Amino acid sequence: MSELSVDHLLGIKYLNKDDINLIFETADHFKEVINRPIKKVPSLRDITIANLFFENSTRTRLSFELAEKRLSADVVNFSAASSSVKKGETLIDTVNNILSMKVDMVVMRHPNPGAGVFLSSHVNASIVNAGDGAHEHPTQALLDSYSIRERLGEVGGKKIVIVGDILHSRVALSNIFALKLQGAEVKVCGPKTLIPKYIEKLGVKVETDLKKALAWCDIANMLRVQNERMEISYFPSTREYTQQFGVNRKLLDSLDKEIVIMHPGPINRGVEITSDVADSSQAIILDQVQNGVAVRMAVIYLLASKIKR
Ligand code: NCD
Repeated sequence: MSELSVDHLLGIKYLNKDDINLIFETADHFKEVINRPIKKVPSLRDITIANLFFENSTRTRLSFELAEKRLSADVVNFSAASSSVKKGETLIDTVNNILSMKVDMVVMRHPNPGAGVFLSSHVNASIVNAGDGAHEHPTQALLDSYSIRERLGEVGGKKIVIVGDILHSRVALSNIFALKLQGAEVKVCGPKTLIPKYIEKLGVKVETDLKKALAWCDIANMLRVQNERMEISYFPSTREYTQQFGVNRKLLDSLDKEIVIMHPGPINRGVEITSDVADSSQAIILDQVQNGVAVRMAVIYLLASKIKR
């Protein structure tokens, strides 16, 4: 197979296993490219991409922009804080105005779940979801699986625990879809108040004892508590959260094996993960960031090849 089954990347939910394999094989090639002295290929010289960020982002925005530039695409950036959205313009009007300037692809982060799906049915461009509220963050899940594959050979058959604020995390949902699709075993671990009631329907198990979860897994993906999405308190205090659901050196040393530690960033050092763990060779956090560029290059390249020009 040399083509994706989709015209947009709206969520992992819409992909199949062949799509994921194709993205990874393409990313292997681009990873080699970005480690060359000249980190650029001319593949997308005729493509213009708009990055629309209606929500804060550091890593994801930079990573998409680098990926686009390394493919030689023309890039325009837009952030909601400095735009006419503040003057009352609708999302479709904003995007159609941008598209009338002959933009081929839109990478969008938006606080509303489903914003990418909505846009894809209303405008004529290829849409990449860079995070829609607490729903999906497909490129993060792809780069996470790609990083697991790089460190442990393959994703199928591996045991992964996702720890923390599962309820508000788009990283958790996209990871669950991606990991299950590739045949991994998944558990989630966190305060009961931060685990959605439907979660077991997705084929994952719940474990509320972090030590047991760590003893079971090959990989722990530590998530940040999404305070900005909370209107009420979901646990008594940050100190108590850290005591029950934070990883530290002592806890990891008490296990009889060395597990791999992941984190999508931004890290709250000393809350979900201590610095000695985050900065150790057991953690692949910066590999995830580096792989993000190659994986996003692959996604953009494969979607661009489906645009009729
Ligand atoms: C995540 C996000 O924005 O969903 N960050 C990222 O994209 N790397 C996770 C988070 O904000 O905690």
